[in-house]
Amino acid sequence: MMTEENIQTFDLNRIREDFPTLSRKVYGKPLIYLDNGATSQKPQVVIDAIEHYYTFDNSNIHRGVHHLSQEATTQYEDARVTIQKYINAPTSEEVLFTAGTTGGINLVSYSFGELLSKGDEIIISAMEHHSNIVPWQMLCERKGCKLKVIPINEKGDLIISDFEKLLNEKTKLVSVTHISNTLGTINPIKHIIDSAHKVGAKVLIDGAQSVQHMSVDVQALDCDFYVFSGHKVFGPTGVGILYGKKDILDSMPPYQGGGDMIDRVTFQKTTYNVLPHKFEAGTPNISGGIALGSAINYLAKQDLDAIQKHEHELGVYATKELNKIEGMRIIGTSKEKTSVVSFVIEGLHPFDIGTLLDKQGVAVRTGHHCTQPLMDFFKIPGTVRASFAFYNTMAEIDVFIKALNRSINMLR
Ligand code: ALA
Repeated sequence: MMTEENIQTFDLNRIREDFPTLSRKVYGKPLIYLDNGATSQKPQVVIDAIEHYYTFDNSNIHRGVHHLSQEATTQYEDARVTIQKYINAPTSEEVLFTAGTTGGINLVSYSFGELLSKGDEIIISAMEHHSNIVPWQMLCERKGCKLKVIPINEKGDLIISDFEKLLNEKTKLVSVTHISNTLGTINPIKHIIDSAHKVGAKVLIDGAQSVQHMSVDVQALDCDFYVFSGHKVFGPTGVGILYGKKDILDSMPPYQGGGDMIDRVTFQKTTYNVLPHKFEAGTPNISGGIALGSAINYLAKQDLDAIQKHEHELGVYATKELNKIEGMRIIGTSKEKTSVVSFVIEGLHPFDIGTLLDKQGVAVRTGHHCTQPLMDFFKIPGTVRASFAFYNTMAEIDVFIKALNRSINMLR
């Protein structure tokens, strides 16, 4: 556990020095990286952890009696405990390594889905990423379940009174995003979890856009599942976390079969390993897990309150400056927002804006952001999205706005 003395005071220059990519140039211009919703940059400690593993400790885990294997196993399991403590999971066996948020949701939709029957209902929301829509559609097709969708309003807030009306004794699972990757809306997940529990439904929270911005306490939330990706919390790609309550994970059948997830295999019958191994078949992304532990350790040393304040100021400032531009329409204007600003400009295609910004060194994401139903709701083909991390600066926003104005002048 981090104590007050371990926390570093918020120093933006020092933080930026920790991330080597931030000092590179593109097309001869300093990189202004505003695509953190897609993936974050990595601090040197994370890069070092991967290099160290492959240079000195490379071996398979949970298998060898030899020294290297034991060292790798210890580091991998230590990372699991680091992550368990960071999200305040009761035990490390409830913290499963996955390939990412998508991997975690697919695990639950397959395995928890095996416990569902025809007529059971699953609730998602209108602002979900495709990875929190499609696995449930596949489950509904497989099992004859019904998918219901919480609507949103024009600001990009969930209509909670409509959510309450969707709940009934047939609702078996509610799966919603903590923070919308496209709109930045922070959803009232505690309320959603408590309401769902009243009808006996379980709740999965998609935390892909949250853990990098705020502290998450899975016990205080009382969620049944919480998923997130390593690469968005300053760790590597190809690794993520699924937290699940032990009794629920125990009641679920395995997802994939293979090595490590078994207790005893015969041709007649196979018995399965205990948690977390029951859900971790095959050789995992070992360096990824270890480096994710380093990323979480790095994050745990930061002053999260100061980070949140800084990111909030970045979002407010960017929104204010963007709103000065003629024809600007911000998509996602909830009062409860994280530091993500999506927008369209009248008469201009997001892709053209993104391409011209790139030539000026500014990296943003353009398109539907894997939220096509949300684009349909707002009747737009896509947006330009600037998504900030704690290492971004106000000066970078000034460069971004100047580059945006230049792009608009070229296109109009
Ligand atoms: N889900 C990621 C994003 O929002 C890839 O960009």
